[in-house]
Amino acid sequence: MNTDNFLDIDDLTADEVDEVLARAAALKNGEDDAQLSDQTLGMLFEKPSTRTRISFETGMTQLGGHAIFMGPEDIQLGHGEPLKDTARAMGRYVDGIMARLFSHEDAEILAEYADVPVINGLTDDAHPCQTLADLLTIRERFDEDVQVAWVGDGNNVGQSFAIGCALAGIDLTVATPSEYPMDDAVVDRATELGSEPEIYTDPEAAIEGADVVYTDVWVSMGEEDKREEKLAAFEGFQLNEELLAGTDAKVMHCLPAHRGEEITDAVLESDRSIVWDQAENRLHAQKALLVELLG
Ligand code: CP
Ligand code: NVA
Repeated sequence: MNTDNFLDIDDLTADEVDEVLARAAALKNGEDDAQLSDQTLGMLFEKPSTRTRISFETGMTQLGGHAIFMGPEDIQLGHGEPLKDTARAMGRYVDGIMARLFSHEDAEILAEYADVPVINGLTDDAHPCQTLADLLTIRERFDEDVQVAWVGDGNNVGQSFAIGCALAGIDLTVATPSEYPMDDAVVDRATELGSEPEIYTDPEAAIEGADVVYTDVWVSMGEEDKREEKLAAFEGFQLNEELLAGTDAKVMHCLPAHRGEEITDAVLESDRSIVWDQAENRLHAQKALLVELLG
């Protein structure tokens, strides 16, 4: 792998994405016994997490290594020590850092000052580890002609997924409210990679012909004060039986799901839902990434 860090999915080439996904599948099937014996991953969380924390920690254990969880209050970072000093000190102890931060620029600072690989475990702008698991989940079920629709917010999960689809050669349609689009830079980059997403503000138009419909929460971590305006803007974007009637599309969600907001309980619990495979694949995809980056 040519990159030192994994701050967004675009840090990998299309071939490298293929390599990571192939290794993830092999690790999942027990056909790859790569180890990271005695290696330590430092995990820094400014926001809560279930899947990211548990899958990285479990993944390091399964690879023969170790992971350390740090919330901001647990370390001096939460008490005034600058991020760049935290990065430099941490880099002298651990073999890699995984961080979940608010600001994407902070992830870049961490990568600049730490002498070890830094993995983005979600920022306000990107969630590339999620994208690896999403692409693995899609590849397990569909061939190359798969058509995927993103219906929801144009922020972190959606943006990394859009570029990931372009790298993986997957056709993507996108429906976001006009107030919450993906960044132009993301759409331009996906286009440059040869896979221009079709952009809509109408979910019905975006899901036409889709094999997979993917959504995310409407109110992301750190946006709690925007809750009312976001709920109003996302009216009509809920994945419910009415919207999905007439399609046999599978449904993806990065989780956590807010049933009754972006998705109904009935859809999440239906045969359409492949969200638990998606959640499981975080483990396999990240183990592959860790082996490629730290190994
Ligand atoms: N999808 C995801 O990153 O989940 P967590 O917030 O639980 O880590
Ligand atoms: N967009 C969501 C993703 C959670 C995994 C958030 O940032 O809170």
